[in-house]
Amino acid sequence: MNKIVLMFVIETENLTKDFGGVRAVDSVTLSIKQGELFGLLGPNGAGKTTFISMLATIRKPTSGSARLCEHDVVKNQDDVRKCIGIVFQDPTLDDELYGIENLDLHGRLYHLDKKTREKRIKEVLTLVGLTDKANIQVKKYSGGMKRRLEIARGLMHRPKVLFLDEPTLGLDPQTRRNIWDFIKQLKKAGTTIILTTHYMEEADYICDRVAIIDHGKVVALDSPKNLKKKHKAKTLEDVFLKYTGRRIRDEEANSGDRMRQRIRARMGH
Ligand SMILES: Nc1ncnc2c1ncn2[C@@H]1O[C@H](COP(=O)(O)OP(=O)(O)O)[C@@H](O)[C@H]1O
Ligand SMILES: [Mg+2]
Repeated sequence: MNKIVLMFVIETENLTKDFGGVRAVDSVTLSIKQGELFGLLGPNGAGKTTFISMLATIRKPTSGSARLCEHDVVKNQDDVRKCIGIVFQDPTLDDELYGIENLDLHGRLYHLDKKTREKRIKEVLTLVGLTDKANIQVKKYSGGMKRRLEIARGLMHRPKVLFLDEPTLGLDPQTRRNIWDFIKQLKKAGTTIILTTHYMEEADYICDRVAIIDHGKVVALDSPKNLKKKHKAKTLEDVFLKYTGRRIRDEEANSGDRMRQRIRARMGH
């Protein structure tokens, strides 16, 4: 056992990402401790996915820096990748394959040998409560089962840090609760977890600390309890609305802009 305890598993300094003229993440400086369950909250288009994409080495920062498990996300991409697991918003499971095959495939990608893969598959299936569903095609899974299988897959290589991008989006309340309790269990097992959400109840229920992010900037950073106390608010949602206002954010408008940008770029404009 490595006895050296890392104080901060994630450290960012003025981390910034521009997409053309859009500043998606604006000079974010924060540190996340080992074993923390950290929530990134923000309205649609706030920059949550872009922020964790940079930490997960999927997107390169425009400026600033970030370190994960003491590795630089630009200079030491491979080392960073070994220490993280990612479950993204858009599902990437193969529907035609059995649950167990999806897990095995991921193990192969991480060059785990057969024995290790078999052992880990058993482990993660138990953890997400899908042992008796392992030999069923994923297309026959419910939404909640799929999400749990995706999380299981993200855990196959035993990451120190797990990124969950909107882990309960579109799930019914029962399944959502089930996933929350499961995420809490993962934390107990020592995994550092960074999740994005726009469900305030979710963040309030499970997160140790949250960063409220709007227009790419961190506008508040504390435990849900402290934030509520500070603003004399009953719910975290009230705090959130204080910071981010009541104007409705139009996700569709954003994606429309992005699509138009892409088309323009392709046409050479
Ligand atoms: N690939 C991209 N190209 C251009 N703009 C993007 C791209 N990805 C995200 N954006 C823009 O960056 C901003 C932040 O997006 P995102 O990180 O997806 O927000 P969130 O996850 O909080 O909803 C938005 O304005 C979005 O339109
Ligand atoms: Mg997002």
